[in-house]
Amino acid sequence: MTQRIAVIPGDGIGTEVMPEGLRTLEAAAKKFGIDLAFEHFDFACCDYYAKHGQMMPDDWFEQLKDFDAIFYGAVGWPDTVPDHVSLWGSLLQFRRQFDQYINLRPCKLLPGIKSPLADRNPGDIDFYVVRENTEGEYSSVGGKMFEGTDREVVIQETVMSRHGVDRVLKYAFDLAQSRPRKKLTSATKSNGIAITMPWWDERVEAMSGNYSDVSVDKFHIDILTANFVLHPDWFDVVVGSNLFGDILSDLGPACTGTIGVAPSANINPEGKFPSLFEPVHGSAPDIAGKGIANPIGQIWSGAMMLEHLGHAKAAKAIVDAFEAVLAEGDASLLTPDIRGQGTTETLGQAIAERILETEQ
Ligand code: NAD
Ligand code: IPM
Ligand code: MN
Repeated sequence: MTQRIAVIPGDGIGTEVMPEGLRTLEAAAKKFGIDLAFEHFDFACCDYYAKHGQMMPDDWFEQLKDFDAIFYGAVGWPDTVPDHVSLWGSLLQFRRQFDQYINLRPCKLLPGIKSPLADRNPGDIDFYVVRENTEGEYSSVGGKMFEGTDREVVIQETVMSRHGVDRVLKYAFDLAQSRPRKKLTSATKSNGIAITMPWWDERVEAMSGNYSDVSVDKFHIDILTANFVLHPDWFDVVVGSNLFGDILSDLGPACTGTIGVAPSANINPEGKFPSLFEPVHGSAPDIAGKGIANPIGQIWSGAMMLEHLGHAKAAKAIVDAFEAVLAEGDASLLTPDIRGQGTTETLGQAIAERILETEQ
């Protein structure tokens, strides 16, 4: 059975890490006899937008809805398109219209990479951020009044629904229950944000009643960020609203040495729509064009995609391959963010070769 993947490299380093993501997927597909068909889309600031003045054609939903998954690089080129225009015209549309309400973001200190936190070794940092991905602080409810005058007011509402919050909490509790430590941490701010956040806490409390074997704690987001740095070993599954989850999923990977390795899965668990797999990082205009972006975030996202598509062994082979290359620590292959002198391509190639050497 052929599985069809829509490929959207995007902008900046998205176009540099995507070939390595595809190279490693092709290696895994060959090794494990998986039939993947890739179709490329030019939905990016520096491509489709430059030609048409919008991020995607009007019928994008029809064009993409029957794919088995979407493999995405990164979008954004703020010099030519304002970020809120490019992202609301692309990634945030996919998350909403394809109801990808889970954003699953593993955060793991990998072998051979030095954490900026003192005395932290692989095993000390190994948790998941489960981010609500369709509502919360990312809302289009609000507006401007008295624009351009000194009475100007801007309002943007946070929207949380019982349906939306309960479904992400259920996913996070199920994940915690499946892990050896069975521990769930909720990101809150119920001391200051006095309507939505006390209600979030109530929903966590209610959901925890169904999971007597999962231990639950909660922290206000301010001290939670501090604890990510001071005690990353405390965490197993961390669940947060859209914005809190966004912040935690850059901070967590930073504690593991680089955001360049962090992957994410934007999942529609019911499988009604395609899920989308992308690195956590953006288009990194500051290093774009140099060929030095770390491709592991893209490659690991590809592994998450294979797992989602039912190819757990192939997914594991990809993760084992990049862990082995990192553990060996040949600096000539590694990218500069992890103290190497290599390129996006040398690292991607080394990982692909390792996948092909996998013993089955
Ligand atoms: P960014 O993630 O692009 O970059 C932040 C910093 O991390 C930069 O110094 C960059 O060089 C470094 N970095 C990122 N990825 C790296 C990699 N793979 N290897 C080595 N270093 C890496 O975040 P930003 O600067 O806030 O955003 C730049 C653009 O990307 C903006 O347009 C933003 O809106 C967009 N963005 C897109 C996505 C997405 O498409 N999913 C995510 C985040 C940001
Ligand atoms: C991410 C990104 C996006 C987000 C931006 C680019 C809109 O930071 O995927 O984490 O905030 O969700
Ligand atoms: Mn982010």
